[in-house]
Order: sequence, then C-alpha cells, then structure tokens
Amino acid sequence: MPERNLRLGVPSKGRLAEQAVALLQQAGLNFRRQERSLFARAREIPVDITFLRADDIPVLCAEGAIDMGITGSDLVAEHGVDVVTRLALGLGRCRLSLCVPEDRDFQSLQELDGCRVATSFPNLTAAFLRQHRADPHLVSITGSVEIMVALGVADAVVDLVETGSTLAANRLRILEDIGQYETVLIQSTSCRDTALADRIVRRLQGVVIARSYSLLEYNVARARLPEAEKITPGFHSPTVSSLEDCDWCAVRVMVRQSEVIQVMERLESIGATAILETAISNCRL
Ligand code: PRP
Repeated sequence: MPERNLRLGVPSKGRLAEQAVALLQQAGLNFRRQERSLFARAREIPVDITFLRADDIPVLCAEGAIDMGITGSDLVAEHGVDVVTRLALGLGRCRLSLCVPEDRDFQSLQELDGCRVATSFPNLTAAFLRQHRADPHLVSITGSVEIMVALGVADAVVDLVETGSTLAANRLRILEDIGQYETVLIQSTSCRDTALADRIVRRLQGVVIARSYSLLEYNVARARLPEAEKITPGFHSPTVSSLEDCDWCAVRVMVRQSEVIQVMERLESIGATAILETAISNCRL
C-alpha cells in the first residue's frame, strides 16, 4: 500500500484552472475545494488535488513533490525537466511566437540583433534565437509581456498566442513561431503508485476522446455499405446491424467532431438516411 494518497497538481487560477477542474470532474475525480484552500481530497479514489501555480507544476512534479500534474507543455519545455508526458488533454492549444510591433518593418530574426526581446520563456527563446543565429538582448519578466513594447521596455516580445486577440489589442504581429503547445497530464519519474496513475490516465483519456468524437448513426443500402465504411471507418470498425428491410442496414460509428458535417454530407450523397449525431460524454475504448 502506498504511504499516502497520490498527489495531483492542478493550476490554482487562470483559464487552465477552470478547464482542468471541469475535466477532472467529468472523469469522475470529484472533490470540493474550500475557498482559498490549497488541497482537496477526491471522493472514492485515493487522490489529493493540490492547487499550484501552473508554472511551478513541472518542477514540483520532477522533484517528486507531486506525483502527477496538469500544466502546459510550454512550461514543461521551458523548465526542461525530466517528467513523463502521459496525455495531451485537448485543451489550451496555443503557439509561442516572436512578435514585433505592427508598425516596425522587421522581416527577419537577424534584424533583431542588439534589440530587446521581453519574454517569460527565456530558455525556449534563447534556444530558438541561438538556433537561428540571432542575438538580441533578452529581458526576462513573469507576466503582461504583451505590453512591454508599449512601455518602451522591449522592441519585440515572445509570448503565447491562442486566438491572437491580445496581439491585435497591442498592435503586434507574429514574425516567427517558436513552437506549438497544449495542456498535458505529466507524471513524476518517482510516482509512488503507478497503477493508480494509469487509472487516472485511463479516466481522463475516456473524456478527452469523448470530447473530440461524436457517435453517428445512419441507415444505408447494403449495396452501398462498402462505400459508407470508407467514409466512416470508425475508431476500430463500425457496428453494422440488420434492419427489417434486409436490403438495408444500420451503422453506428465514432466520427471526429471536426469532420461530422462533412461526413454527413458525404453519407447523404451515397443515399444514407436517418443520419443522427449524438454527443459522447465518456468512453472506454
Ligand atoms: C496568455 C498569453 C497572452 C494571451 C494570448 O495569457 O500570455 O497574453 O494568453 O491569448 P490570445 O491570443 O487568445 O489573446 P493568459 O490569459 O493565459 O494569462 P497570463 O498573462 O497569466 O499568461
């Protein structure tokens, strides 16, 4: 028996915090957080949720202070820590970009030599600039990077871009992308209960897959089933059932949500009828 509950680090505030808590609850990790408390014990599973700064989670996980954590892959990369990334959570997709003022005519990274670049990602930025043989002066700060140009602290910034609205509001444009990142579940190499960690991964995986797939059901003429199966090959393979009219059959299959509309149109074009999309809230495949 492990001597203590498994510790799972979760961001304590910001966009990531709300999304992470919603994901955990959908995966059956239910807990109640007392106001301002840093701990919450999950019901029916020996897991303690620890609320931490997203920025600290990679380091605390690498040090073994928490067994698992939810954080950004950008922060894992920035800290260069030795942790195992168990699962991409389908949240917080963003890119880290080098951005310059809209009204400055920078065309290449090398033109930034001698300029000041503000960022809260000094390690990733320095490695990127080295790789491209550019040599600006780095100004390392911990937040509100986007306003550093307006404040006269920097000529360019390296910051996360999700929708691009922060850039637009600050009259900045992307000169170069440094990398693409998203929210991930990480595990310490010294995790004390790997069987329980695997169980948490499976639970979260069920929700992550369910969120990105829909269940599609339709009827199609048996003669056109091979074509239908090409359009909807399914996760493993579609479920095909008989109908009273033996020239027809019913198909049930998982389809990527981003492709559902297109798939429905293609099924219609081969004569499929009664095409229904149902959301999946959880699954085990
Ligand atoms: C991040 C990032 C940008 C913003 C980009 O900040 O630092 O400021 O999001 O998103 P957008 O392209 O959709 O505008 P976040 O809100 O996560 O908070 P932070 O300033 O604490 O990093």
